[in-house]
Amino acid sequence: MTSLALSDADIERAGNQLTALLRSFEQSLDARPVLPPVDRAVLAELRVRPFPLEGIGIDQLFQDIAAKVVPNSTTIAHPRYLAYVLGPPNGIAPFAEAVAAALNQNCNFWQLSPAASVIERKVISWLAELFGFSKQAGGIITSGGSMATLVAMATAIREKFPGDFRQTGLQSLAAPLVVYTSEEAHRCVEKSAAILGLGLDNVRKIPVDSEFRMRADLLAAAVRQDREAGKQPFCVVAAAGTINTGAIDPLDDIAEICAAQNLWLHVDGAYGALFVLSPGIKDQLLACSRADSIALDPHKLLFAPLEAGCVIVRDREKLRHAFGFSASYIPDQQDPLFTNFMDYGPQLSRSFKAFKIWCSLQVFGVNAFVAAAEHMLEIARYLGEKIRGDAQFEPMAPVKLSAVCFRLRNASDAENQRILTRLIDEGTALLGPVRIGGRFGIRACITNYRTTREDIDLILDRLRQLG
Ligand SMILES: Cc1ncc(COP(=O)(O)O)c(C=O)c1O
Repeated sequence: MTSLALSDADIERAGNQLTALLRSFEQSLDARPVLPPVDRAVLAELRVRPFPLEGIGIDQLFQDIAAKVVPNSTTIAHPRYLAYVLGPPNGIAPFAEAVAAALNQNCNFWQLSPAASVIERKVISWLAELFGFSKQAGGIITSGGSMATLVAMATAIREKFPGDFRQTGLQSLAAPLVVYTSEEAHRCVEKSAAILGLGLDNVRKIPVDSEFRMRADLLAAAVRQDREAGKQPFCVVAAAGTINTGAIDPLDDIAEICAAQNLWLHVDGAYGALFVLSPGIKDQLLACSRADSIALDPHKLLFAPLEAGCVIVRDREKLRHAFGFSASYIPDQQDPLFTNFMDYGPQLSRSFKAFKIWCSLQVFGVNAFVAAAEHMLEIARYLGEKIRGDAQFEPMAPVKLSAVCFRLRNASDAENQRILTRLIDEGTALLGPVRIGGRFGIRACITNYRTTREDIDLILDRLRQLG
């Protein structure tokens, strides 16, 4: 009989190979190209090569990984990878992932994952406590921020729908439900509205102020107008850290409007809310706990490897109300020590994503994550000050969190695009594009605990030369 298990000797061999790969990857990070030149011939061969009928063995597998996969992978952990919002994994994460794979817990009902159920609950309550949510809060680890917002908006519909949403669906509504967000919102809000059947026509994008925050007065006016037109406002999605500039919407003002108008308040905190770890920013983010739900992304600021998002709902029973479904073939045994996470989101089979977060908090301690948050904010402020103090550059937005948007002064969009492309193509750094007020700009988002002031100086020197 063929066995798909490894012998003792092969477990040892695979472990040693993995350790060697991790060590050489870590040691070579600085020297690796951020965006490697893709070897098309190698990848084309990977695409067509048939799987072997007899296995190639562990040593050959690791040789192939080192020769073909690693060199053709973007170096996300590089200290000058500053594009989008994506951080490197923390050091213990690959080991945690290996253990999670070995245990292969199914985090659906607790009998298939007793320790995992408690650990996921622990991670979620720790996250909730960071914002001061009460013990009634609860949530679920998701694949990312987009899924967290989708889960939150589905819960909002279930709660605010006039009637029995589960039974009749949106089809029974004469007057459409309307959701409000800002012009600077992440596209996951519109995507969720489209998926959930709300329709993009029913997403209001409220204008922002000069610092890219949602205008609460215009939100109130839009809600009023929609009610007068016979529509049914039901939800506001505010941002704790907008994708482009890191702006934090006026959460207290928006929460007042939501309370007065009986609207569900969801905060998209996927990028910025976990900066609550930083004592300097914390006060601006505590108002997140006034929301009915919040989306977080541990795969950003907690350096969990992809995928790890989280949605927290102020009253966890609302999640169960939206997602709890019974079936004769699934046990439904409640126990106060455990949570049946299948009742908190759309998935039945679920991997043990909380484990990598839990392991990293255990190994490094909370203070290490506080220090990382402080470090990223400090590097972003440093870059922001350099931009402001240099006549060759022009800031495009205030630096609120770790995103810094700027452009070459007195240069066209095409010229700014050209220097960004050059910087990336020559391998100095990977920064992202941004469009603010219709103008093209360059966006550096510090989401890496490795990025230093020297990296920033190097990037700016090069941009000056290219400009
Ligand atoms: C503000 C904001 N919302 C939502 C998302 C989507 O998160 P994810 O990519 O984890 O789905 C992002 C991603 O960068 C984001 O910055």
